[in-house]
Amino acid sequence: MHFMVQSKTCRPSAFAPSGLHVAIIMDGSGRWAERRGWPRLAGHRAGVEAVRRVVRAAPEAGIGTLTLFAFSAANWSRPAGEATALMDIFTSYLRADFHEDRACGIRVNVIGRRDRLPNALVETIERAESATAGCRRMRLRLAIDYSAREALAEAVIRCGSIDGLSSADLARTLAEVVHDRAPVPDLDLLIRTGGEQRLSDCLLWEGAFAEIIFTERLWPDFSALDLTAALDEFHRRERRFGGLNSAVAS
Ligand code: IPE
Ligand code: IPE
Ligand code: MG
Repeated sequence: MHFMVQSKTCRPSAFAPSGLHVAIIMDGSGRWAERRGWPRLAGHRAGVEAVRRVVRAAPEAGIGTLTLFAFSAANWSRPAGEATALMDIFTSYLRADFHEDRACGIRVNVIGRRDRLPNALVETIERAESATAGCRRMRLRLAIDYSAREALAEAVIRCGSIDGLSSADLARTLAEVVHDRAPVPDLDLLIRTGGEQRLSDCLLWEGAFAEIIFTERLWPDFSALDLTAALDEFHRRERRFGGLNSAVAS
């Protein structure tokens, strides 16, 4: 594994936003396009508009940290043309949106490996992260070339020499490994669009007690209303963290 040294452009801070931590596995964009007889890339482009809708709606919906899974380490097994086009889409999205993110108080962090990303994307990530480092309204984490399992394995190796290793030590190291600027709160809610019911290597540590919602909605069709509907369902659930529900416990 080759993880680049953390960029010096933004220094880590202890910023811990209030609000929920919600992650979305943004799946189904290829099928959205295929169903229309269009190239898969058209689905990925339409998916960017869904990202914008969700990012705009998230702070008002009570989300303090939003993690969007955009490209997994396993996605390098896609045809090279699709992977390259996705990297271009991420670059133009970040370039086009970081001014607005800053204006809206959204702090952008990209998590994952950076050594396999094109230089133009890495530079854009560093610019977006620096420009929004002081924002406090919401944290937006885009997972690109991200594998929770690889990141955990690397964090454990790096922590090997720490005596009496705590979960806080591991969480801090995990943030460093994926180039995040600070540890994140545990995941409250994981939403996966596109109908598949699996984790696909997403947030295995942070998601230990996450509620999960699978929806058939394909990512490019996902709306602000779908987000609030998912949050409504989340608020109806009782989280027990291994304990008993309140009626039984009293
Ligand atoms: C998710 O959409 C985006 C990436 C994995 C890059 P897909 O490209 O997996 O879309 P489907 O699942 O084939 O429809
Ligand atoms: C998961 O989607 C990864 C992202 C959405 C970034 P995939 O389409 O790659 O997942 P699998 O292959 O169905 O597990
Ligand atoms: Mg898929």
